[in-house]
Order: sequence, then C-alpha cells, then structure tokens
Amino acid sequence: MASAREQIYFLAIVLLFSHSKLMLSNAAITGEPIPAEWPHQFHALMFMNQSGTLQKLDLWYDWPNGRNFNIIQNQLDHLVTYDLEWNNGTSFVYTLDPSEPTCQVLHVEVGILRPNWLHGATYLGQQHVGNFLCNVWEKVDFIVYYEDVLTRRPVKWVFYTGYTAHVMTFEVGAVLEDPNWQAPVYCFSENGKENNSPILRHAVPGGSLGSLMRGITVWETM
Ligand SMILES: *[C@@H]1O[C@H](CO)[C@@H](O)[C@H](O)[C@H]1NC(C)=O
Ligand SMILES: *[C@@H]1O[C@H](CO)[C@@H](O)[C@H](O)[C@H]1NC(C)=O
Repeated sequence: MASAREQIYFLAIVLLFSHSKLMLSNAAITGEPIPAEWPHQFHALMFMNQSGTLQKLDLWYDWPNGRNFNIIQNQLDHLVTYDLEWNNGTSFVYTLDPSEPTCQVLHVEVGILRPNWLHGATYLGQQHVGNFLCNVWEKVDFIVYYEDVLTRRPVKWVFYTGYTAHVMTFEVGAVLEDPNWQAPVYCFSENGKENNSPILRHAVPGGSLGSLMRGITVWETM
C-alpha cells in the first residue's frame, strides 16, 4: 500500500503529464525530431540530378525581401538560366547570354517557400546520405528531405518527380545584392511578355523552371 506522500507524488506527476500533453505537438509526444526552419536568408550551391541530367544550381533564398533565385547551369553547358521568383507569384525565367537572350514571365498562385514550409512533414527515420547521418521527412506528393543530424543543415532533397538536390555549400545569412535581382529589360517588352506566357495555377517543382522552389504540385495551363 502506497503511503499518502507517494500517492500525492503520483497524482502530481499525472497532473503534470496530462497538462503538458495538451500543449505539446504530436511530434513532441512521440519524441520524433522536427525539421529545422530555413534560415531567412541563405546561399546554397547545389548539384542537381534529373534522371541523369546534371546541373549546378545557385540558390539564393531571401525571405525578408520576398524573393528566391535559382541560377542554373547544365553540366558542361555555358548557358546559364536565371529563375527569379517573387513572393507575389511572378517568376522571371531568363538568359543573359547576348547570343540567346530569352525571357519568360510566369504567374503562379502561391508565393515562395516559407521558412517553416517543412512544418507538418512526416518523419521517416534516419538514413545515411554519403558521409552524413540524416533525419528524413516526407511531404507527400512534394518532397523527401534529408537533414544532417549533427548540424541540422539540409544535405539533400528529392522532389517527387525524382529531381534531386545535393547541397554542397550552405551559407546562412548570405544575401545577393539588389542589382542582381533585376530582370533584364526584354522581360518587360511587348512581345514575349505576360500575354502569351503560360499561367501556372500550380507548377511541378523541378518539373519546369520558374516553379522550382514554390512547393506546389500540378502543372495546369489556362
Ligand atoms: C542521377 O540519377 C540517376 C537516376 O535518376 C542515377 O542513375 C544516376 O546515378 C545519378 N547520377 C549521379 C551523378 O548521381
Ligand atoms: C511582383 O513583383 C515583381 C518585383 O517587384 C514585379 O516585377 C512584378 O511585376 C510583380 N508582379 C505582380 C503580379 O504584381
């Protein structure tokens, strides 16, 4: 028979537990790790693989200024594609090469990824990615995301299309200066402009440029 004192301790613990349980998320109860929020500004150099087509991708994520830049170069190809995404849903996809100046203006119904875009992802456990032990999460129909257990930096992600990003560098706080975010003048000329460009209601991440990092799932032209 427990003493009165033991019973009081027991009751206190039960109360404490049931009370705190109300305030904890599901992940906290199960003890599952949750992904780190993205730093509000960072620069990452990434190697991308789309079924064997390799690309170098410079990612400049800039949440406070509502913009995201993917600067993409295919392996051994001199042509650089700039995919500039604004949080108001406008993307400019262009080249600057004088021999091939092109620009496409896209309109998407959602903004860029929020720093907490991984919130609510399903934890899949731990996995080795190269030399890194990673926690792995999935957002169904969008992405599988690998984060270094030790540093909590992203190591790799795989869009559901198979498009795979390997993070090579991750500079927290790095910001690309304003002049670099100016789309070229031919993005604003009469032809090749918004009238005849496709309107994206949703776009395939990794499936088409101009929608790489917006976190949306289906191509639709209107
Ligand atoms: C790229 O992805 C394909 C599968 O889509 C794979 O067979 C190939 O080994 C990958 N290449 C590299 C360099 O990772
Ligand atoms: C969104 O913002 C960019 C950059 O300021 C601008 O060029 C573009 O016209 C804006 N789009 C809309 C639909 O307002």
